[in-house]
Amino acid sequence: MQTTTGIVLAAGQGTRMKSAVPKVMHPICGLPIVHYGVQAALDAGCGEVVVVVGQGRHRVEEYLARAFAGRPVRVAVQEDQRGTGDAARAGLATIGKEALQVLVMNGDVPLVSGEHLRAVMLPLAEAGSPAALAFATCLVGDPTGYGRVLRRSGQVVEIREHRDLRSPEERDVCEINAGIYVSNIALLREALSTLTSDNAQGELYLTDIVAFSSNAGERIAAVALPADVLAGVNDREQLGQVERTMHERIVRKWRLEGATVRDGARVDAGVVLEPDCTIESGVVLRGATRVERDATVDVGCVLTDVAVGAGAVVKPYSVATESSIGPRAQVGPFAHLRAGTRLGEEAHLGNFVETKKTTMGRGAKANHLAYLGDGVIGDGANIGAGTIFCNYDGFQKHTTTIEAGAFIGSDSQLVAPVTVGANAYVATGTTVTTDVPPNALAISRVKQENKEGYASRLRARMKAAKDAKGK
Ligand code: UD1
Ligand code: CA
Repeated sequence: MQTTTGIVLAAGQGTRMKSAVPKVMHPICGLPIVHYGVQAALDAGCGEVVVVVGQGRHRVEEYLARAFAGRPVRVAVQEDQRGTGDAARAGLATIGKEALQVLVMNGDVPLVSGEHLRAVMLPLAEAGSPAALAFATCLVGDPTGYGRVLRRSGQVVEIREHRDLRSPEERDVCEINAGIYVSNIALLREALSTLTSDNAQGELYLTDIVAFSSNAGERIAAVALPADVLAGVNDREQLGQVERTMHERIVRKWRLEGATVRDGARVDAGVVLEPDCTIESGVVLRGATRVERDATVDVGCVLTDVAVGAGAVVKPYSVATESSIGPRAQVGPFAHLRAGTRLGEEAHLGNFVETKKTTMGRGAKANHLAYLGDGVIGDGANIGAGTIFCNYDGFQKHTTTIEAGAFIGSDSQLVAPVTVGANAYVATGTTVTTDVPPNALAISRVKQENKEGYASRLRARMKAAKDAKGK
């Protein structure tokens, strides 16, 4: 197949979205709409992808530079949004002589895959008399709003936009233009140079390249694709529908690969699920989250960029961000792992425990309500209920180090920076302000005193006071 350069049209504001955010930056399953078109063009084998940006361009550019770093993706700017034809011109103007054919696609059809695009490229590679222009079509029940494919004696002669239709017969045409075109570059250049804005929207229509090619006697191929993949996003309702379809696709893929994903779980496009993991309902997996073999993420958990190790169990309603959970570790219910948490193999982090930038070694445990910020916790250490790492002195954050095998009694505070040595023991209710040597006991509490009979005397005094008031 000839080298193809992709042009993704993404300069429009997307007025119908009623948003300050440019349309192509609205996320679908965690990735902005524009991501899918660019990825599909790369998957289809485009040697280079040019994204035409305009409205909110800095946001789009910044995203593309980050998401496609090192890939042949760049932008072209369309200063004024004068229509899809003008956008295609802006893209084409930046393409060098090497390119032989061009794929132009609307940036708002995220369900289209690389395979679909390759199907549209095929007619230009046919032996004998290849097509000079191919475009994707589909049959829809309700063609309202779409450009109609008009044919004469079966041959495509024109795409006419909804608002430019001239008769009820034209309006009844259910074969619509999907906004994906592959053309020989010379033909595209010539066709685009002839566009005029003599139409209902006063815009330069990319779709007019079809009538031009037809009049020039070029062979045009209309490639039918399934209607569900060609759904465009123009408003929030369509955004919702397309996301539903995309999500079904993602879940089906992981189920086929052996993961159990219950209905009602949400799995973003960048997530990876290994065989025999279980994702319960109400779970939200975002970003680059990865759940390894035999791990379970139970009801209602929200994980963003989290690695869950093999056989680990994340119990209901736990929230974790930018963290890793070791193999066979246990988390939750109701645990909060903030960025930079690293739980070792078989570590336990129980209910109402919050961590931040904290590492827990193999088999270390913190089973009940605790705040463990900026901590380094060694293998097998045990952190009692109510423990607080006092990591912030109002100016700076400091580290608490608990060495292997140490035991921190309940309701202790560790005033960082501080270290508790290996196998040391911190007695319940201790405020640790200086380092504890290995194997030592640290205790800082007021000695208990019992006053015999004091409680009864106190009650008698209270009662007398109450009676006096009642008189
Ligand atoms: C377009 C087609 C229509 C087709 C439909 C399929 C035209 C004239 N019409 O209509 O035949 O049925 O897609 O979904 O092409 N854009 C720019 N610059 C502009 C205008 C648009 O970059 O000046 C970009 C938009 O960001 C968008 C894409 O082009 O990603 C399509 O534009 P949109 O306005 O959504 O076209 P439709 O009205 O959907
Ligand atoms: Ca559209």
